[in-house]
Amino acid sequence: MIKKEILLINNLEKFINSKILYSKPVVEKLIAHARKEIKQLSNQNIVPGLAVVLIGDNPASKIYVRNKHKFFLTNHCHSETFTFDLNISQDELLSFIEDLNQNNKFHGILVQLPLPNHIDSQVVINSINPSKDVDGFHSENLGKLFLGHPRFIPCTPYGIVELLDYYDIETTGKHAVIVGRSNIVGKPMVSLLSQSFKKGNATVTVCHSKTNPLRKYTLQADILIAATGVPNLITSDMINKHVNIIDVGINRVEDDSEKGYHICGDVDFKGCSGKVNSITPVPGGVGPMTIMMLLINTIKAAKNGS
Ligand SMILES: NC(=O)c1ccc[n+]([C@@H]2O[C@H](COP(=O)([O-])OP(=O)(O)OC[C@H]3O[C@@H](n4cnc5c(N)ncnc54)[C@H](OP(=O)(O)O)[C@@H]3O)[C@@H](O)[C@H]2O)c1
Repeated sequence: MIKKEILLINNLEKFINSKILYSKPVVEKLIAHARKEIKQLSNQNIVPGLAVVLIGDNPASKIYVRNKHKFFLTNHCHSETFTFDLNISQDELLSFIEDLNQNNKFHGILVQLPLPNHIDSQVVINSINPSKDVDGFHSENLGKLFLGHPRFIPCTPYGIVELLDYYDIETTGKHAVIVGRSNIVGKPMVSLLSQSFKKGNATVTVCHSKTNPLRKYTLQADILIAATGVPNLITSDMINKHVNIIDVGINRVEDDSEKGYHICGDVDFKGCSGKVNSITPVPGGVGPMTIMMLLINTIKAAKNGS
């Protein structure tokens, strides 16, 4: 009788538990391979180098840049951050990037977004030598991705593909719903999931702030990718129990804690975990994958002799 009850409880747990898609084991696997490549390059006296351009003192941008810098140094790569005041002119910035383009120490160049309003972000990104554009945001690199011949895949969508691959989440023939259509997450994600790439061949629906009602589409998703910057936008009544959820959002929400805030995603994790097939946590999900893929893109640039 007791045995039967234990069996019942175990089955119930299986039923209500969702798999939590942590990035840690994925990063561990990818970093082991990346370190071998870094070692091989170092035997040829090449140290993969990244230049990061940071404008102003946006606290979130400063944290992202610091984390990228630390990750590169820990993995025996070169990284330098160049910080400018908010009032730097677009021409000054373009001329600085031209110097970086010519500097052989840097195989990758990254301009931390967002930029101040008086600067046209796409003009600045397009001034980076496309062979050094390790963020993959240059028009040429986005075009190559959309044509099916990517040079550098934007790091966050690239990291999501690796997560899906590691956890063996099927995409072929599945319905992927992407909430958010930004140039850095939503649009490249559409391209990756809809083409016949690794973790592609899905049927993709793109939602945005004018989608009405959003729930109609999210309810149909086999794979749901939320990249909106709206804390807890996706709630348990908007999902089905078979869905695999990738939460890209990193939102700082003020609270009464000592720190004065906490970080949450675009998905109500508490409400949705336990009711879905799998879900990424925030933090510990997509965020670390983004930095990992930046390192991989920079190693690729170094190997290509950028
Ligand atoms: N984990 C990482 O490494 C990583 C990397 C990049 C970004 N992020 C995070 O991901 C989130 C999105 O970033 P992003 O740069 O893609 O943002 P973004 O450029 O602001 O784009 C947000 C997108 O979400 C859509 N949206 C906004 N409110 C919506 C709503 N109520 N319903 C449906 N769609 C809505 C917008 O629609 P419209 O186009 O109609 O305005 C837009 O397409 C942010 O929290 C950011 O911090 C995380």
